[in-house]
Amino acid sequence: MTGWLEGHRALIVGAGSGIGRAIVDAFLAEGARVAVLERDPDKCAALSTAHPQVVTTVGDATTRIPNDLAVAAAVKAFGGLDVLVNCVGVFDFYRSIEDLDANAIDGAFDEIFRVNVKSHLHSVKAALPALHQSEHAVILLTESTSAYYPGRGGVLYVASKFAVRGLVTALAHDLAPGVRVNGIAPGGTLGTDLRGVASLGSASRSMFDTPERAAELAARVPLQVALSGEDHAWSYVFLASDRSRGITGGVVHSDGGMSVAAAPKKRR
Ligand SMILES: NC(=O)c1ccc[n+]([C@@H]2O[C@H](COP(=O)([O-])OP(=O)(O)OC[C@H]3O[C@@H](n4cnc5c(N)ncnc54)[C@H](O)[C@@H]3O)[C@@H](O)[C@H]2O)c1
Repeated sequence: MTGWLEGHRALIVGAGSGIGRAIVDAFLAEGARVAVLERDPDKCAALSTAHPQVVTTVGDATTRIPNDLAVAAAVKAFGGLDVLVNCVGVFDFYRSIEDLDANAIDGAFDEIFRVNVKSHLHSVKAALPALHQSEHAVILLTESTSAYYPGRGGVLYVASKFAVRGLVTALAHDLAPGVRVNGIAPGGTLGTDLRGVASLGSASRSMFDTPERAAELAARVPLQVALSGEDHAWSYVFLASDRSRGITGGVVHSDGGMSVAAAPKKRR
């Protein structure tokens, strides 16, 4: 522990598994007090068993009231709030426009944008009154390589993640100088429970880890690494800490170097 978040009070939305769960561990290790809003009661129970000091609220982050309740629980327990992190998301399993039935577009669009974008807006709006009282106020939204490149998600997922990238830019502009707003854009990640979309019949489908998936993730990127939630979590720690006090409207690309993977290397 280096104490980078000593004295900081954080709410992490969507923290029952995967990247959000790893952020809980990293924030606690760095001295933060942590509250969580999570839809899945079993994941909340497991979190409470592992970390009884974490304040958990079970609820759907795509609606206003659970976000208000989670912020209120954090403020009641900690006396305030300094950091909001949102890790909520669903995936479309690479569904292209060619494979998207016209009748499915309305439902799938509404669901993906409700979860991937609206949940972020609701959590930010709910947290703002408390964040405005903080001298270390930070909002961190979870983007993806899909907020920058095609091909790592389907058309709706990519569009929704570009929208999250837009939220980071717009919110950073709106909320300066009092609140810093940054994004983290993870690449394909091992060990998560990222779910599909109910309206496309894949709500129970999750990304699963096989030796092939680790090798495939590593082969995609110049650094040849298959990253986990723990790998990404330190980027959230840095952006939540006062070490990044000059950074807003930015992004950490925790993705093994996707931006320099596009062109094949020149041969001598
Ligand atoms: N897994 C990847 O390869 C990957 C890559 C880049 C970006 N991401 C993004 O990272 C974020 C976290 O994904 P993950 O892979 O860790 O998945 P995950 O499913 O393991 O984590 C998301 C958590 O949010 C919870 N959640 C989902 N909908 C919710 C809602 N409406 N209200 C409250 N909680 C809700 C889930 O139960 C889960 O605990 C997502 O935004 C995802 O798009 C994931």
